[in-house]
Amino acid sequence: MLSRIEQPHIEADAAALAQAAAKRCLDIAATAVAQRGRFDIALSGGTTPAQLYTLLAAEHAEWSAWHIYFGDERCVPRDHAQSNYRMAREVWLEHVAIPDDQIHPMVRDPSRPDCDARAYAQTLIQSGLRHEHDMPIFDLVLLGLGPDGHTASLFPDSAVLGVEDRPVAAVYVEKLRSWRISLSYPAINAAAHIVFLVAGAGKAGVLRTIGHERATRTPYPVERLTPRGEVQWYLDRAAAEGLSS
Ligand code: 6PG
Repeated sequence: MLSRIEQPHIEADAAALAQAAAKRCLDIAATAVAQRGRFDIALSGGTTPAQLYTLLAAEHAEWSAWHIYFGDERCVPRDHAQSNYRMAREVWLEHVAIPDDQIHPMVRDPSRPDCDARAYAQTLIQSGLRHEHDMPIFDLVLLGLGPDGHTASLFPDSAVLGVEDRPVAAVYVEKLRSWRISLSYPAINAAAHIVFLVAGAGKAGVLRTIGHERATRTPYPVERLTPRGEVQWYLDRAAAEGLSS
């Protein structure tokens, strides 16, 4: 289990956090492209990564070797204000020369989450993403963290927490009264690198609790990750407030 926040990168504010995380993403990408001729990344959604994606839009990278996937998505149209795909496209993807057929949104038909989840699992295979034991091996999975300890769309008490046999699942999130599509634990755990981006005072409580008070509470979904690769935490000072050194 992910029971400790090991050696977090703590930056002064969200802007500095985005800068540091952008450098890390570009470093991981350069190594992957040098070694395998491609870089497979699963993007996080929500608001925190927007500054990172905006910075990447101004960078010069070997974009033709980048393959863009998503760690989770809201079941809304691709042009919807809540769409993670729309956010990434608007601030980053439409400003760089990543071939369109190397950008893989999760949602096709928001009214058919299960169908889209199954189709996405096929997309992961057909797009040439390497697999081991039927699970995709992303070079990098970017993740956020909710105050309730969710990450991607692995929400507390949601059925997707029990998905072990497939890389992608549709999940109805009761508290949001909405459907999501998410990578499952096995798909995230298999990544070569995981980078968490967590900013703001609203996340300080959940960060302080990770790894503590185990006897008296149900583990957060994020704590149930068992990553096989490298895990790095990029936090701003507000989110890291009170973290024991
Ligand atoms: C989503 C995300 C989700 C997000 C956290 C943090 O689609 O909302 O993937 O897991 O990373 O909820 O969101 P913020 O960055 O907006 O705080």
